Amino acid sequence: IKSQPTIFIIFGGTGDLNQRKLAPALYNLFLEGWLPEQFSIIGTGRTPLSDEQFAEKLLDGINQFSRSGKVQQEKWDEFSKHIFYQVSDAKDASTYQEFGKRIENHNAEWNTKANVIYYLAVSPNFFPIIAENIKKSKLADDPEKSRIVIEKPFGHDLESSKELNKLLASIFDEHQIYRIDHYLGKETVQNIMAFRFANSILEPIWNRNYIEHVQISVTEQLGVGDRGDYYDGAGAMRDMIQNHLLQLLCLVAMESPVSFNADEVRDRKVDVLKAMRRFSPDDVRFSAVRGQYSKGWIEGKEVPGYREESKVNPDSNTETFAAVKFFVDNWRWHGVPFYVRTGKRMHQSSSIITIQFKDVPHMIFPTEASESWQQNRLIISIQPEMSIRLQVQAKRPGLDMVLNTVDMVFDYKGTYTNQAPEAYETLLLDTMLGDQTLFMRGDQVEAAWDLIMPILSTWEAKKSLSFPNYSADSWGPEVAEALIARDGFHWFSLPLAGKK
Ligand code: BG6
Repeated sequence: IKSQPTIFIIFGGTGDLNQRKLAPALYNLFLEGWLPEQFSIIGTGRTPLSDEQFAEKLLDGINQFSRSGKVQQEKWDEFSKHIFYQVSDAKDASTYQEFGKRIENHNAEWNTKANVIYYLAVSPNFFPIIAENIKKSKLADDPEKSRIVIEKPFGHDLESSKELNKLLASIFDEHQIYRIDHYLGKETVQNIMAFRFANSILEPIWNRNYIEHVQISVTEQLGVGDRGDYYDGAGAMRDMIQNHLLQLLCLVAMESPVSFNADEVRDRKVDVLKAMRRFSPDDVRFSAVRGQYSKGWIEGKEVPGYREESKVNPDSNTETFAAVKFFVDNWRWHGVPFYVRTGKRMHQSSSIITIQFKDVPHMIFPTEASESWQQNRLIISIQPEMSIRLQVQAKRPGLDMVLNTVDMVFDYKGTYTNQAPEAYETLLLDTMLGDQTLFMRGDQVEAAWDLIMPILSTWEAKKSLSFPNYSADSWGPEVAEALIARDGFHWFSLPLAGKK
């Protein structure tokens, strides 16, 4: 399948996201033949640049960050013919008239009416200005031909996300709005639905009768880097849990959609968010914990504490770690806790989902027969290892009856020879093809905000905290261990190659 002729207008064209993610993704789509013959990429930003200078910037990004490595000159020469730049002021109407002219020119040259994708890779305070100007300049009059892509954060809280949804709905139809959650584009994340709904052996055990608890753990070794100004106003709850982790939870907990249709899938995910138990201030105290990292050493390098990071308030109470115990109050999941945690500057960078099954009903082996008795676990490893493991007990070869835990593994590396596409390749292609399955619908975003608002407001009401409370290269604050240990469990992590 190839998409229709397409014009990408990338706001924030000179920014980091374009260099690191969008340009490499578009280039790889081009290399693999997914782009239509007639396409153009128009970057726009405040810095005056020529088309060539802009293309050079993208080339730099592609050479550094593309999964396909350095570009081949002849491919680049072909690709770069499609790259243009326009200096712009997002507030100025004439900017949009220029876009209008460019679109007309392309249409005349291609003798067609191209799809136009407005990609807002800019800070969220520009979302309303750009959207309104697109409307005023009549650049989105044909709902079948124009789409808008919005990066996160989608709002700062429930109120602001509702306002943004309202504004967008006054300009675009929902089917034109592509709200990005890049986790949904990850190959291993897409596979959760395939794994659950294309195999018959899982459904009978995928419920409260067999599953004891679920863990979703997304930990990063990186700190806030140079994003302190954004992050200090956000924190781990807004930055990661409101979107990525809750989306993973939805994929694990959702009912089967009737078909693999964008709205069917998104309806079932919204059902999960709606079924999730709301928090009273007391629940927040017992079920949600936070942390902030102090300085430490990561892989032999000294790293600063969060409050010493650039563009961060030195007295900041922003959490760089958060862990929450959720419940999904429906028949399937009654009584099954879902523990989620995420943090920066932690011991490992890894994203895994662990489904722990209940214990055997009766133990026939003597206690000494088991070296390390462990209930069955299914581990969906999203990154860096891309795998699904089922941990089972087995008899260790030998004359005595000794059991130990072994892994049955589906590992992408050992199974497939082709490289998995980057999340942004999938998402950009889906935007071109008009497939919204992997994008956030307006009601999904609001439902997620609605769920976490009580946690945020309880936290924000508490002025001073004894932060920092975990050191770089640790597994987070002690309160996070206590949160899960109280229920008799512990956080699970996969040993990574070359790591303790
Ligand atoms: C982004 C967050 O959405 O996701 C970042 O804003 C975070 O803070 C990033 O580092 C993690 O994404 P990935 O793909 O590296 O796991």
